[in-house]
Amino acid sequence: MSSEAKKVFIVGATSAIAKETARVYARRGCDLYLVARNENQLKSLTDDLKVRGASRVSFSVADLNHFNQHAQLVGQAAEFLQGLDIALICHGSLPDQQASEKSFELAQHEINTNGLSVISMLTELAEVFINQRQGTIAVITSVAGDRGRQSNYVYGSAKAMVSTYLQGLRGRLLPFNVHVVDIRPGFVDSPMTARFKKGPLWSSPIKIAGIIVKSIERKRHTVYAPFYWGIIMFAVRIIPEFLFKRIKF
Ligand SMILES: NC(=O)c1ccc[n+]([C@@H]2O[C@H](COP(=O)([O-])OP(=O)(O)OC[C@H]3O[C@@H](n4cnc5c(N)ncnc54)[C@H](OP(=O)(O)O)[C@@H]3O)[C@@H](O)[C@H]2O)c1
Repeated sequence: MSSEAKKVFIVGATSAIAKETARVYARRGCDLYLVARNENQLKSLTDDLKVRGASRVSFSVADLNHFNQHAQLVGQAAEFLQGLDIALICHGSLPDQQASEKSFELAQHEINTNGLSVISMLTELAEVFINQRQGTIAVITSVAGDRGRQSNYVYGSAKAMVSTYLQGLRGRLLPFNVHVVDIRPGFVDSPMTARFKKGPLWSSPIKIAGIIVKSIERKRHTVYAPFYWGIIMFAVRIIPEFLFKRIKF
């Protein structure tokens, strides 16, 4: 974040990673506008951010799969903050892969949440940022988008769609002085992964939040979080397909 960046819009603000990121910005005295679907959590997060130093905080309650509300949500954020310096999209869900393989309805719901709802938001955000001719759009995708693993490809394909979209958007917004960051975390200990056994490769939401803020500040492009996931995913990407298709992970 540049020292003058003060207006931060967070979508999916009650995610564990988003909350920690919002706290960093609050400590810097930023103004924040939050969107999530749980009103009680939004209220307590708003209070928490004010106590930590945020100048002004407001929120909207929305299920982000209701795409037709996105233009209004972005408009409300831009109006409250009087422009946007940073927009960070964080919401997501980890599908039941096996159930989504058998039900297209379920797969579609998950792809809406992890893919199309993000693209819908980006479409609205791009217009605002183009008009402002400044700012940064950041999105949390996932290392899961780097390759379609048989255990997780519904989620992975939705995240890959967003990452590819972000690449194109980055080029389109460059002439308008708008930067686009793709943050790809590995394993993060959050409510989304509560049921998994944790190990040495796991990170805390606070750690990922620090990486997100720095990456936005430094105008990075694609960020593996933490960095060692860049090495792991390089190794995963170069496994020949005839072997990869046999690996059950
Ligand atoms: N945890 C990991 O290991 C990991 C790894 C790579 C990438 N990521 C990505 O990191 C991001 C943040 O996840 P997290 O780890 O912080 O998990 P989290 O705490 O479980 O956050 C997920 C958030 O998404 C929200 N959400 C899901 N569907 C929504 C919808 N239709 N409308 C509005 N909000 C919705 C949830 O809201 P409710 O609380 O109301 O359900 C929740 O706040 C996600 O994009 C996730 O895919 C996570």
